[in-house]
Amino acid sequence: MNFDQEINRQDTYSFKWERYKGKDILPMWVADTEFRCAEPIVEALRKRADHGVYGYHLPAQYEPANKAVVRWLNDKHNWQIKPEWIVWTPGVVPAFNIACKAYCGEGDKVLIQTPNYPPMLAAPGLNNLIKENVDTVLVDGRWTLDFEQLEQKASDPKTKLFIMCNPMNPVGTVMSQEELSKVEAICLKHGVTLCSDEIHCDLILDETVSHIPAGTLPEIGEQAISLMAASKTFNVAGLGTSFAIIRDAKVRAQFTRAAAGHMPWVTFMGLIATEVAFTQCDDWHQAQLRYLRGNLDYIQQELASIDGFNFIRPQATFLAWIDASGLGVDDVQKYMESKGVGPSPGKDFGWPDHTRINFGCPRSMLEQAIARLKS
Ligand SMILES: Cc1ncc(COP(=O)(O)O)c(C=O)c1O
Repeated sequence: MNFDQEINRQDTYSFKWERYKGKDILPMWVADTEFRCAEPIVEALRKRADHGVYGYHLPAQYEPANKAVVRWLNDKHNWQIKPEWIVWTPGVVPAFNIACKAYCGEGDKVLIQTPNYPPMLAAPGLNNLIKENVDTVLVDGRWTLDFEQLEQKASDPKTKLFIMCNPMNPVGTVMSQEELSKVEAICLKHGVTLCSDEIHCDLILDETVSHIPAGTLPEIGEQAISLMAASKTFNVAGLGTSFAIIRDAKVRAQFTRAAAGHMPWVTFMGLIATEVAFTQCDDWHQAQLRYLRGNLDYIQQELASIDGFNFIRPQATFLAWIDASGLGVDDVQKYMESKGVGPSPGKDFGWPDHTRINFGCPRSMLEQAIARLKS
């Protein structure tokens, strides 16, 4: 458990590192971390790899992983689920695309908050649906949804689905009970299905708040779709394994029917990683949160001393969403890259004058990035 360790990913065909291969630009974009994953996960994968037979397997019958999810949600989110509510999906991105197919018909509208994770912004269009943006607004120094706009757009009879991102990427807000109650009331009133991408829910950095899964909401929880994974938290995203929790049998059947023939079963390696992450890695999880809080304190303090940046501290995720409009440059991404730092372009999320830096990395890498930005 050494989060300071610098690991060379250059020859691993890492999505993040390939973009700037051969260039002196630090890759700080895609949302995976630079951390070696917890040792029990590495050991379990090694042991299974040694078995040498990698044939078909059945995720729904893989009891240890299903039990691990039940255990984790009970312990970490006070949510008592039944194993049959779990639908394994080979990624959260395919899952919210399947939700578009499952709960909408031609010409229907899907609500998406902006700025947002680019594949979420793309999902309605990919499924021949109409995307309706819901703005993010700053209230008392914290990003939240424009609830008036949400209500107004939800009231359109063509609106069938709200794909929510909570904790929010890129702004890092963890939605409160009050905010979720507003979402609940709006969805209920207008018959809008709630699909909640909660992939960042185990990365809560603000110790005064906690994550509330959509599936626990008293009135629409039964019909809601909560999308989760061990992937971000335990840095196992390359194993392509996540899960949806859908309480209502009919809503679940709609989802699995829409997925049939399109979505492969998750890999056994992903199931093993999830099982071990959710049963044997609590200490590693806590240690990583402490490390990320330290990185966040550092980046917040340093960004405050650089002209042109305005940064609002996120409550969750290892992603810093930074207003770079003060730089006064035409192309923020080009400017950042000219400094030797490669963040995610704000324009991909819908706000071109912003930039997103991934601080899920050893402090030394972050220090290097800050030094470059200051130079
Ligand atoms: C909000 C959000 N959803 C989904 C994903 C990716 O999910 P997956 O790799 O499981 O498809 C990401 C990755 O950055 C994300 O930030």
